[in-house]
Amino acid sequence: TNHFTFDPGFTSTASCESQITFIDGDEGVLLHRGYPIGQLAEQSTFPEVCHLILYGELPSTSELEVFNDTIKQHTLLHTQMDRFFEGFRRDSHPMAMLTATVGGLASFYPGAMDSEDPAERRLNSIRLLAKMPTLCARILKYNLGQKYVDPRNEYSYAENFLNMCFSVSAEDYKVDPAIAKAMDRFFILHADHEQNASTSTVRLAGSSGAHPFAAVAAGVACLWGPSHGGANEACLNMLHQIGSVDRIPEYIEKAKDKNDPFRLMGFGHRVYKNYDPRAKVMRESAHEVLDLLGLKDTPILKVAMELERIALEDEYFIDKKLYPNVDFYSGIILDAIGFPKQMFTVLFSLARTVGWVAQLNEMIDDPTQRIGRPRQIYTGAAKRDYVPIEKR
Ligand code: CMC
Repeated sequence: TNHFTFDPGFTSTASCESQITFIDGDEGVLLHRGYPIGQLAEQSTFPEVCHLILYGELPSTSELEVFNDTIKQHTLLHTQMDRFFEGFRRDSHPMAMLTATVGGLASFYPGAMDSEDPAERRLNSIRLLAKMPTLCARILKYNLGQKYVDPRNEYSYAENFLNMCFSVSAEDYKVDPAIAKAMDRFFILHADHEQNASTSTVRLAGSSGAHPFAAVAAGVACLWGPSHGGANEACLNMLHQIGSVDRIPEYIEKAKDKNDPFRLMGFGHRVYKNYDPRAKVMRESAHEVLDLLGLKDTPILKVAMELERIALEDEYFIDKKLYPNVDFYSGIILDAIGFPKQMFTVLFSLARTVGWVAQLNEMIDDPTQRIGRPRQIYTGAAKRDYVPIEKR
């Protein structure tokens, strides 16, 4: 017998108290430090949202300037990272490279283990926010076999990232402000989402006192899976696989079939039993980006919209409260901007870094938080005596 609560998948366990993000899954509400995600996505910028999530308040003009300037001082990677990259296969999955290199960054900042010093911790949070775009762009360039492009300080966070990804020589790429806006909005929509699997992983890894960059690397690893951050890549694959509107009913039936493991990617959520508020903004953004790039009539958008319409009217999806989630439209946007599918979850990681870091810092400051150590219900063999090998 045991006295533990059995809660596989943690559907009814609150692992911590937090002041960062509020979700009401039944109503489809998401607030960061009290601000609705829709307002932030429409009116704010990613650096502002980072400041809000990290420090609790939107910045004043001068605070934002200092915040942006500090980020810009820390965007470069150490040159030793070049050799680290050369060890990877050219066609490595970008998430494999990201998991390894984020963890590897810990080697340059041994002082970050000393979490007692708030100034050092603040600096390490900024370092990670500053280096993630450089690292992620470098991963893309490595896959493409192109030269790395250095960060440029005259650009905003999103513009700089796009330039590092898509510029080949110094002057060939002009960052389109509307695309930069869409990129920035993508970052805002993924910035934090309370105790999801990867954030819980970061907290659990960090709860042992591990290096903060190593804890974030654990979060990156967790995000990779298709049930979590990998859903955006899986969703675009699925839309391509469906290919045309007339094949949608066949896939809807597959998703409903208990004997078929197929699921509609980009549908359903553990917490949202209503339309994911992030998906609403992402949907509008997808239309804007495709309009802008003259891609509005592509089969992929038609399939996505029709699939959404049919699923929202289908009894199975209504009964199980399965609505489109943030990943349903994000792949379409990223694909249109020009990112290879394999990069999608890397972009999610880049955006979620601020949430991971803020949650980790909150945990370290919280005196109620001890090392995370769930218990189990043992179902194995009862005690028995060892049998020498010749007698087995
Ligand atoms: N298509 C078809 N059926 C589904 C789907 C789907 N996408 N999602 C859930 N169901 C069914 C599932 O078969 C189960 O049916 P039953 O009760 O008859 O066994 C019921 O709905 C509940 O599903 P569950 O797997 O118990 O729910 P969960 O809370 O453990 O899983 C989820 C949530 C997001 C992993 C799941 O909905 C899923 O696999 N969705 C597809 C992948 C996806 O889009 N993930 C992104 C999530 S949002 C962003 C992020 O977290 O990164």
